[in-house]
Amino acid sequence: MGENKNPETADLIFDGKKISLPVRSDNQGQKGIDIRTLRRDAGLVTYDPGFANTASCQSSVSHVDGERGRLLYRGFAVEDLTENCTFVEVGYLLIHGRLPTRTELEKFSALLNRHSMIHEDMRTFFSGYPEGSHPMAVLSAMVVSLSSFYPELEESETEELDITATRLLSKLRTIAAFSYKKSIGEPFVYPSYKLSYCANFLNMMFSSPVTDYQIDPVLVRAMNKLLILHADHDQNCSTSTVRLVGSAAANLYACIAAGICALWGPLHGGANQEVIEMLERIHREGGNVDKVIERAKDKKDPLRLMGFGHRIYKTYDPRAKIAKTICTEVLGKLGVKDPLLEIAMKLEEKALADSYFAERKLYPNVDFYTGITYRAMGFPTDMYTVLFAIGRLPGWIAQWQELKRDPEQKIWRPRQLYMGADHAPFVPMEKRG
Ligand code: CMC
Repeated sequence: MGENKNPETADLIFDGKKISLPVRSDNQGQKGIDIRTLRRDAGLVTYDPGFANTASCQSSVSHVDGERGRLLYRGFAVEDLTENCTFVEVGYLLIHGRLPTRTELEKFSALLNRHSMIHEDMRTFFSGYPEGSHPMAVLSAMVVSLSSFYPELEESETEELDITATRLLSKLRTIAAFSYKKSIGEPFVYPSYKLSYCANFLNMMFSSPVTDYQIDPVLVRAMNKLLILHADHDQNCSTSTVRLVGSAAANLYACIAAGICALWGPLHGGANQEVIEMLERIHREGGNVDKVIERAKDKKDPLRLMGFGHRIYKTYDPRAKIAKTICTEVLGKLGVKDPLLEIAMKLEEKALADSYFAERKLYPNVDFYTGITYRAMGFPTDMYTVLFAIGRLPGWIAQWQELKRDPEQKIWRPRQLYMGADHAPFVPMEKRG
């Protein structure tokens, strides 16, 4: 397939017939062939496992520039947002499409406080989970359960969308903290209207009736930054899941619960837990990073260097750069000396100098350094992906909302190339095997 002289179409010659397909361009110069009439006009479908070459939608929520290592939320560089904004401000930006005024931010924060509790009857749900349940399992189940307690409001009214969105943003944090408290057998700590979003979360996580938890502004700032880093990332796996489920007109809670399940996968958000487990293993085995690198390069070995590589970034992930800075700052300010940080830095240095990683353009991704910071802050390993989910929520909501408002979107229903039998003669039970 080649582009013809008219830049607006690409010609495909198939079976002696020329089919002209329109070409669309995004505002970053990425061109895309609009194949919507391909099957009708040529009887063809496209084959693209993993959708590596497929644009599933037009979006203006966020943009990942994998060549230049840039990440934009609504046009703003993630570096500027992490430096100057709170997570709540960035959540507003993603959902509403612009930065809030002071009054809008105050109103949004007040709404977040008002909706931060979960229905008392939901407390009993936590007791139904066996000891050792992964908090991501609890989180996804609790989020879908919210739909029974807080039926979705009509998204056509801005104020009503605000309420559903703020309910989710606020309650996800409460559910996350409650699932942690349940897992360690401590009483739940309720949200407080006196505290900001991140301070409230840290307080619900770490205070208890017998410990006077001092909310450290250094940790609150780090928490804000880390959540901002995760707030959106164009059409990644969990966001695409949210959109896919949303395309069937499922309610917002169901879509977000599905997104949480996708995020849990170790190739996606679950990698932050895997990174720490990998670093701990290296530490236990004497700190030799060479063995892991050799194993990651060996095609017969299923081990991958967790926290390394990305579908889009072919240079250093800008989030990883910021996460590394946050990590050294937090550990420095807390006076924590974590041998895992040293191992991570050694691993990064060796991998970047290795031709296997260089040729494939594999660099540290966002998950490489975040876990070490979470560890220093006191989060247990299995909560790391939950933190990713809290961060990603405003992006999921914004993307879901964009899908709903996009007149070109329809139910997502890919085609396949069927490779199975054409006609298998039926075999009655008594004649099988
Ligand atoms: N360790 C060793 N080899 C790797 C790695 C890795 N972490 N990542 C990619 N490769 C190799 C891969 O084996 C392949 O080699 P070859 O061309 O010889 O077959 C080549 O690099 C291209 O990899 P791919 O699997 O085709 O790339 P992908 O775009 O399908 O996968 C990825 C992207 C993130 C799933 C993958 O890099 C990976 O598994 N990384 C480790 C898990 C991880 O850190 N995930 C978090 C991603 S960032 C957070 C998020 O947004 O989810």
